[in-house]
This record gives sequence, structure tokens and C-alpha cells, in this order.
Amino acid sequence: MSATATAVQTPLTSLPAWKALQAHYEKIRSQHLRGLFQSDPARGTRLTAEAEGIYLDYSKHRITDETVRLLLELAEQSGLRERIEAMFAGEKINVSEKRAVLHAALRAPKGVVIKVDGENVVPGVHEVLDRMSDFSNRVRSGAWKGFTGKRIRNVINIGIGGSDLGPVMAYEALRHYSQRDMTFRFVSNVDGTDFAEATHDLDPEETLFIISSKTFTTLETMTNAQTARDWSLKKLKDDKAVAKHFVAVSTNAKEVAKFGIDTANMFGFWDWVGGRYSMDSAIGLSTMLAIGPENFRAMLAGFHAIDEHFRTTAFAKNLPVLMGLLSVWYTDFFGAETVAVLPYEQYLKRFPAYLQQLTMESNGKHVTLSGDRVNYATGPIFWGEPGTNGQHSFYQLIHQGTRLIPCDFIGFAKALNPLGEHHDLLMANVFAQGEALAFGKTPEEVKAEGTPDWLVPHRVFEGDRPSSTFLLEELTPAALGKLVALYEHSVFTQGVIWQIDSFDQWGVELGKVLAKKIVGELEGSGPAKGSHDSSTTTLIERYRKQRK
Ligand code: F6P
Repeated sequence: MSATATAVQTPLTSLPAWKALQAHYEKIRSQHLRGLFQSDPARGTRLTAEAEGIYLDYSKHRITDETVRLLLELAEQSGLRERIEAMFAGEKINVSEKRAVLHAALRAPKGVVIKVDGENVVPGVHEVLDRMSDFSNRVRSGAWKGFTGKRIRNVINIGIGGSDLGPVMAYEALRHYSQRDMTFRFVSNVDGTDFAEATHDLDPEETLFIISSKTFTTLETMTNAQTARDWSLKKLKDDKAVAKHFVAVSTNAKEVAKFGIDTANMFGFWDWVGGRYSMDSAIGLSTMLAIGPENFRAMLAGFHAIDEHFRTTAFAKNLPVLMGLLSVWYTDFFGAETVAVLPYEQYLKRFPAYLQQLTMESNGKHVTLSGDRVNYATGPIFWGEPGTNGQHSFYQLIHQGTRLIPCDFIGFAKALNPLGEHHDLLMANVFAQGEALAFGKTPEEVKAEGTPDWLVPHRVFEGDRPSSTFLLEELTPAALGKLVALYEHSVFTQGVIWQIDSFDQWGVELGKVLAKKIVGELEGSGPAKGSHDSSTTTLIERYRKQRK
């Protein structure tokens, strides 16, 4: 393992920049954004950054130039530069799993050399991409036929976590570019309803399943895959049909073969791709089938553009670095617990859900790389909904509640579906929300509107609520790749500052083990057999009685 991956680090809270930020926070915490803008009208143009067609306005944050300077120092003192280099060089920075972290290699152009254990991984990436392209073209054109000779009209991706959330999000986000005479569905939950509803109106003769699982052992996916096999064969009545109606995306060829899928119909990836970082690997096969290989490659180019930006741009102008540092600022100094992601773009409706796994499975950690308990807060809770819908549900709390919730607003200058005034109305709302959150409405302003005294407190907006605004030209495949890469690298930046392993996920294990044990105890109706606490035992017994 490399020196960079394991180097003993000065504890975060002992770094000079951390201590300076603590002192600085005490000075800045009571400064209102109203005052900050009044005394420095240029901050709305200065506290911005732009790269690869993405404009980031971070002026509506509770920061000054001094805050930014100290946060950038924190990044330097945390060794972010070396850690970025280590990641791109294929070092095993996922220390607890002893793995390299190379999602950036998935979108590296041909000719780039990225080595893992001395082997250049980029040619292998392109070999899989070419096979995916060939397969996608055949299915999309109708050349690939189902077992009975019918054209494939329906594609169902079966997977969960990173093998589902990326594909669903990308399909929804890029639906505008999708082949409209094909149906795409996604089954993830072990709840049988998910499978039943996804297939109830489909014909097995026209349906292709993509079984997506890095490990090919995940309970939910394997259960759904078996159900899909039964559903198909009930109509197709011949095991040979599996070869025409099932393909696999996995790192585990042995398990794929065991399931009965011809490994010629398997698209591989590698252990240096984390599940939540895999939507641009073969896990994106459903995306490619929907939008076509050219659009998929355009998305990869978008990812790559931000990889290069992250790797080479000075931190002061580096979008993911700035995003990551702002998140640390609110999480650790203001004590903010959550971040709201608010895309003003209906096609991005699953983007917050996708980001939940990316951010929370990555940075929901309580020990450092060397296994010590952290004494500061790590990964915030991510949540959100598209605007303007959220405005009519939870924005009340963001505007007038007692919590500080930094918001990420995402908007596009051009509509993909221009209809009358819709887009101007949409964008007017995104700008209005950032303004209202930051500046609010004072009691004097409320009174001046003729509001009776008793009602004034209810109608006051304190303001001083921070937000970033991301403005892009149009939601294209490339723009989506750029957006996702921004958040990926922001997550990494935060993880480096917090000195945690952003690439493992041990926290999902215990529940899986217990579920396996309990499932064997649900048969019968007498007292529960397993040794559990009194609460779990009672619940199991009650279930056994009621299910009969
Ligand atoms: O349970 C968590 C997890 O391991 C995720 O990290 C992963 O994305 C998901 O399960 C699915 O795993 P697999 O692709 O191996 O089925």
C-alpha cells in the first residue's frame, strides 16, 4: 500500500487552519448576508467560479474572502493535493478494502495511461465500452431478437444501490434523448411489488433483463433476478431463452455463469469502481440502451472534463473543492445537519436520491483512516426534490424553521421542452428562492406593508440562509456527466478533510447478516427460535402469527 494512502496525519482539529477557522467562525457567525452584500456589492460577481460551462455562484454563503482563504488553507494542510494525485495515480486510497479508486478511469479517453498494480486499465475500459456500444446498437435497431424472434421493446434493469440509483437517475435525466419506442424500467426492492408492477403489462417475448450487480450476490438483486427468470420462462418455456433475454453487468463472472447467463453476454467492470461511482461503467448499460452509444460517450466526456478540472485547477477556482469546503464549513462550524439539493429541472427528479447514496454511503463514517473515532461531524444528510414542487411542501421550514439548511440550486438557461412562459417562470423561482433565503424580509419591511403588529412576527423572514446556485446552459448528456462528477469530487474533498475512507461501506453489513439469520426464523408460528432481544423476538412472533 502506498505511503500516501497510509501516512499518519495530524488530527484535523490540530491543524492550524482548523483552529484559525474556529476563531474566524466566532467573528463571522453573527454577520448577516444583508450586511455582507451591502458593504461589498461586488461579492455577487467575485464569489463565483466557472468551469466547463458550469457557473457556480457561492456569494450567498455565510463567508467572507477570509473564510475562503482559511478553507483553502485547510485543504492544503489536509494534503488534498497529494490525495487527488494518489487517487488519479491508482493508489489504494480505499484503505479498509485495500482498493484503488478509479472511477475517473471509466471516462478517460483512449490513450490515457492509468495503472493499477502496474497494469494500464484504460484499454480494458474501452474494450467494454465498445462491446456495450455494439450490443446497444443491435438492441436499439432490432437486430437483437428475443427467443421467439420478436423485437426487444422493453428493458428492465435489476439492481440495487449503485447498481440501480445511477441507472434510474440517468435514464430520467436523459429521457429527452431516449429511444421513445422502447420502455425502460428499474427493479430494485426485494418487495415483490416492485417486480410485479414493473412487469404487469409487459410481454416476456419482448423483454430484456439486465442483471446489474457488482458482486452478483446481493440478496435483493439475486431474488429479483430469479423471479425474472421464472417470469420469462413461464412464457418462453425453454432454458435457452435466457441467453436472449438476460445479460449481466458484474465483476463476478463465476456467479454470473452459475445463474445461467452466458458470460458472452456479460459486461464487466472492476473492483476499483465503487458501486455508487459506477453509473458510467457497464452499470450504465441501460442508460446506453436508452440514449445510444454516442450520447453515452458525450456523457463520459462531460465526466472527464470535470475530472481534469478537479485534477489541474487551482483550489481557489476549483468547483468541487469549493463545494466540498463549503460543506465542511457548515457541517463542522455552523453545525448544519443537512444539505438540500434542489434542481429546477424536472428531468433531474431522481438526482437528490442518487446523491443520497453517493454522499451518505461515502462520508457517513465515524472513524478516521487509521481507525480513530472522529471528534467532529462528518457527512451531512442529503435530501431534496425538484423545484418548484418543493416550494409548496418543505421550503417553509428552510425559510422560517429553526435549522440552518444550506441549499444547492441547480438551473439551466435553456428548456428542453420550451412551452410558453414555463421556463422563465421556473427560473424566476430559482433566483427568487436564493434571494429570499439570503435576504429575507425584516419586521420594518413587513410593517411597512400595513401588516398588523400581531401578525408581523409570523411574516418576518430572518434571511441569512445560505445557498449555492449552479447555472448551466442546457441539460445534455455531457452536462449530466459534469454535474455528477462535481459531486463525486466534492465528496472526495470532504472525505480528505475529515480524514475518512469515502470509498468503503461497512455500515451496510450488519443489517444484511441479521436479515439472513432472521429469514430462516420466520417459518412456523410458535415461539421464535433465534436468540434476539425481547423487542425483535416479539416482532418476529407477531409476524409469524399474522402472516398465516
Ligand atoms: O449494500 C450496499 C451496497 O454494497 C452498495 O454499496 C452497492 O451499490 C449495492 O449494495 C449493490 O451492490 P451490488 O452491485 O454488488 O449488487
